[in-house]
Formats: sequence, structure tokens, C-alpha cells
Amino acid sequence: MGISFANPEKLTEIFDGENREEWQKTSYIINKLELTPNTVIADVGAGTGYFSNIFSQHLGNGKIYSIDCEPNMVSYLKNRFSDDSFSHVNIIHSLFADPCIPSDVDMVFVANTYRFITDRCTFLNNLFQQVKTQTRLVLVDFKGSHARVSPNKALEEVQQAGFEILNFDLTGCPDHYILTCQKGDS
Ligand SMILES: C[S@@+](CC[C@H](N)C(=O)[O-])C[C@H]1O[C@@H](n2cnc3c(N)ncnc32)[C@H](O)[C@@H]1O
Repeated sequence: MGISFANPEKLTEIFDGENREEWQKTSYIINKLELTPNTVIADVGAGTGYFSNIFSQHLGNGKIYSIDCEPNMVSYLKNRFSDDSFSHVNIIHSLFADPCIPSDVDMVFVANTYRFITDRCTFLNNLFQQVKTQTRLVLVDFKGSHARVSPNKALEEVQQAGFEILNFDLTGCPDHYILTCQKGDS
């Protein structure tokens, strides 16, 4: 069943809600990413920009690509990050099965989005072609009863696309798993 992300003004109440840290354990996820000030990160399925906004505070000389396929989200992101203080945040309107990752990206971060991607095989194959061997791909999504795509299924799918698993964290967040992988040399 499809879900609409066409109303960012309404969805921001959930995505950017005050209790987000509580249910998401955002600080744990950010620590886990081990960002450096120079990291170039692609926030795929950025939504209203909750994570992009946090990344923008952590990255000095780094860069954020805030990527989404929903036109209304893209407009919302452009507006949210229009101020000069967000000059290192770049907005990209991607395609459903193509994340459109720029060539300088060090980390592809996909939070609460993987389960909504219908053609995940094509999406992952495109992503694999677009990243460098050392680029990390980090998937964060629901585990347990909320999981449309189970953590093990996600693991299997990224491996099938050719990615090497670096870390599979099933316990650090109350409701989410964090799967970290990379293209690797082989
Ligand atoms: C539940 S929201 C998550 C937003 C944000 N990552 C967060 O955690 O707050 C899912 C977002 O993914 C986007 N999305 C869904 N399928 C996508 C795809 N195939 N490519 C890019 N974005 C997608 C939706 O438009 C929506 O903005």
C-alpha cells in the first residue's frame, strides 16, 4: 500500500516533533555515524530535513545533499535550507528508483525510507554504481512489528546488490536497526 508524503507542513509535526529523540534515539545514531567535519553526506529520503538539519550542525567544511523524490518535500527542503547559514546543504530531486547520488559523497544515509522504496533492487543497483568503494551506506529503519521490510531482508538485499556489511546494529535503538555497509574493492 502506497503512502503519500505530499504534505510536508503536516508531516513536519511528526518528523520534527519534540519527542523525536525519544522514539528515534537520534543522538545514538549520529554518534554511530562517526562524522568528521569534512564528511560529504547524502541524506536520501530526507523528508522535511530532520537529519539534514542535524548534519548541517556537525559538518564544518563538509557538505550535505538533501535528496527526496517527492516534489513537495523538495520544495519544503529548498525553503527550509534557503538561508545563507545552510549554504553547505544542497537539495536534489531524485527519482523513485534512482537516488541520484553525486560523485563526491562519502556517506549515503537512508532513514525511515528504505521500506517505502518499491523497486529496491533497481534503486540499490543504481546506488551501487554511483558510489565510491569506501562510501558508507547506512540504512536506519523499523525493526519488529513496524517493519515493512524486515532487517534481515534489508541485509539480504544490500548484499545481493554487491555491498559488504560493516555493522548490523539491532539493539542500539528501541525501534530501529542501523545497517552499515560499503561497496568495497571486490
Ligand atoms: C518517513 S519519511 C522519512 C524522512 C526523513 N528521512 C526522516 O527520518 O525524518 C520518508 C521520505 O522518503 C521519501 N521517499 C520515499 N521513497 C523514496 C525514494 N524511492 N527515493 C527518494 N525518496 C523517497 C518520501 O518522499 C519521504 O520524504
